[in-house]
Amino acid sequence: MAKNEWFETVAEAQRRAKRRLPASVYGALLAGSEKGVTYADNMAAFSELGMSPHVADLPARRDLSTSVLGTDLSFPVIISPTGVQAVHPDGEVAVARAAAARGIAMSLSSFASKPVEEVAAAGAPLHYQVYWQGGRETIARRLERARAAGARAIIVTLDWSFSNGRDWGSPRIPERITLKTMVEYIPAAITRPGWAYRFLRQGIPDLSAPNLVVGDEPAPTFFGAYGEWMSTPPPTWEDLAWLRAQWDGPMMLKGITRLDDARRAVDVGMSAISVSNHGGNNLDSTPASIRLLPDIVDAVGSDVEVLLDGGIRRGGDVAKALALGAKAVLIGRAYLWGLAANGQAGVENVLDILRSGLDSAVYGLGRSSVHELRRSDLWIPPDFRRRLGDDVDPAESPQAVLAASGTR
Ligand SMILES: Cc1cc2nc3c(=O)[nH]c(=O)nc-3n(C[C@H](O)[C@H](O)[C@H](O)COP(=O)(O)O)c2cc1C
Repeated sequence: MAKNEWFETVAEAQRRAKRRLPASVYGALLAGSEKGVTYADNMAAFSELGMSPHVADLPARRDLSTSVLGTDLSFPVIISPTGVQAVHPDGEVAVARAAAARGIAMSLSSFASKPVEEVAAAGAPLHYQVYWQGGRETIARRLERARAAGARAIIVTLDWSFSNGRDWGSPRIPERITLKTMVEYIPAAITRPGWAYRFLRQGIPDLSAPNLVVGDEPAPTFFGAYGEWMSTPPPTWEDLAWLRAQWDGPMMLKGITRLDDARRAVDVGMSAISVSNHGGNNLDSTPASIRLLPDIVDAVGSDVEVLLDGGIRRGGDVAKALALGAKAVLIGRAYLWGLAANGQAGVENVLDILRSGLDSAVYGLGRSSVHELRRSDLWIPPDFRRRLGDDVDPAESPQAVLAASGTR
């Protein structure tokens, strides 16, 4: 009898991913920075929020659909961009097929292992993610390629501070897969034969960044691309206003934690922001994104679409984020665990878990649509919220200090 690959929760998908992947690959997905305070808080904070279910007058039918970033979604979950390398041979194409099958949008990282054209062909509404990398002209050419491939929205991710060390160790990722590195990785492949077999059937992964090509040159290696990013001077708000003007569709700034930054994102014309700490991969001890959400929604929620990512592992987490004012959430590790556990079917399995968990929450809370979820549907501990960036005297803003010191 064929083995039953179906899993019941995201936690089980993660256990299977851990069993299936070589330790270094599993570690690359787990990621997180420094002590992992933010990584853990992103998930722990959801557990602090209580549900308040009704028992009668519950809705017989629930509408989970919504529309964000100019895209209709069958339920308010979007695939977050992740620079996936070597998790599954079909990589982002498998994820995009799963997104298409379940009626949601796919966001593709510019560090993805598959070309944007191949991912677009899977048929899911596509968002393309950029970092501020390579300078204006290079970025404009990359946007042009994404536009030609059919991307509907751009996500600009700015919450990466190049702080990579972590107490549980960083996986060693080879620059290229060569005979030498294969020999080095053989012990890992022997302990994970299923994972190695998948690749041997479909070809050894290419650790390059095919979407960062801007001409006829070959795709840069992952580390070559990372070097370009590190050596690019960081963007000013003026650069971001320029970037906004390069794209006539929706654009989202991902990585907002502070009220002042949220307001500036509105000022430069962003159509959406994601309250995010890069899944605990930015500065460690940044508060969980769900703790920051309510104040940011109160400040800019009527001017811009506010999304959230970080720590979503259950449909109930999606309901909690919506009740606190998010229009939709993005998921990262949840789908990566599904991909590693069972390819496209594993990602569909994760999406089904989130969808049915959300439906149960909406039902139990007595709402007939995701748009009716309210803060009063939750018990919120008095010290739950965190508020950042509200008390900055404009004269002390980083820009003003730099200008005063003559640096800029
Ligand atoms: C392995 C890994 C790679 C990531 N790569 C990117 C990336 O290339 N671009 C990006 O905008 N965010 C990236 N992120 C952040 C995710 O888009 C998202 O913000 C985060 O995973 C959400 O937290 P969650 O994993 O708890 O859902 C990455 C996250 C992980 C775990």
